[in-house]
Amino acid sequence: MAPTETQFYPGMGLTTTKAPFIEVARSKGELYIEQPYELYSEENHEAWRQLYARIQERWQRYATEKFLEGVSKLCLDPHRVPRLEEVNRFLAPLTGFKAKAVTGYVPAYIFFDCLRHREFPTTITVRSLDSLDYIPEPDIFHDIAGHVPMHTDPRFADTLVRFGEAAHTAARLVREIKDEQLQLQRLVSIFRALARFFWFTIEFGLMRGKNGELKVYGSGLLSSYGEIAHAIESPEVQRYPIQLEWVINQHFEIHHYQPLLFIVDSFDHLFDLVDQLERWMLEGKLNNVAPGEPTMSEEDIKSFLEASLD
Ligand SMILES: [Fe+2]
Repeated sequence: MAPTETQFYPGMGLTTTKAPFIEVARSKGELYIEQPYELYSEENHEAWRQLYARIQERWQRYATEKFLEGVSKLCLDPHRVPRLEEVNRFLAPLTGFKAKAVTGYVPAYIFFDCLRHREFPTTITVRSLDSLDYIPEPDIFHDIAGHVPMHTDPRFADTLVRFGEAAHTAARLVREIKDEQLQLQRLVSIFRALARFFWFTIEFGLMRGKNGELKVYGSGLLSSYGEIAHAIESPEVQRYPIQLEWVINQHFEIHHYQPLLFIVDSFDHLFDLVDQLERWMLEGKLNNVAPGEPTMSEEDIKSFLEASLD
């Protein structure tokens, strides 16, 4: 049956990669949607329940205090998939941030620009019960339980906005380049630097706790039962104080536990690094970063060159 002929009924499910509602919306080119809450199945709620229950003790042990404070401020329901509307009712008064439902992949510039406007593109599907440990796609557990509690912290929230502004600067800079080949080369290099920074901080960052102990603030770690412990305990992981010149030149791979992680001192430190990242961009220091991952899709390129710059 073609996606457009699909009927939706309560409880039919919003399981990652198996959600007709999402397929139909994407086939219509829709990016932003309302969360169709009644479509979640009992299995979806059960997956949320299990993911949420088992990660509790790991959060207590490994997560930064700011994250734990964020979790309690959001009053997430341990038993049901969260309603974005309710999450936002607690979140928005704290930092102005809001979770905004999307149908899936958001082209890079659009994603970064949402941050600039204090909106967080949020996946609404839930991983299936038989893949609780790992799925390559983001899901609502990664986005709401991993990312959004950090958005309750004012300094962290400002850092995300600052990052969005840096992406805006990047789009403006590359659009001024008339030579198409040079424009593309610059864009790909600056994008790599931005994406690597985001990866090694917002997604996989470590931070020093009050007594010098290592804590996790990166959402990829906070939403992974296995990797959150591995990141802190494993002798196989290399952990270094963050250095901007290293991070922007360091490629990464997404399909296994990260072997290299970087540590910041505080969210003030992180904020200053984003400032520095933008300064380096303006000085041309991101124009030739090391090749390698991540690659930039056609859609990502288009988003930087064609999205409106307000
Ligand atoms: Fe993420």
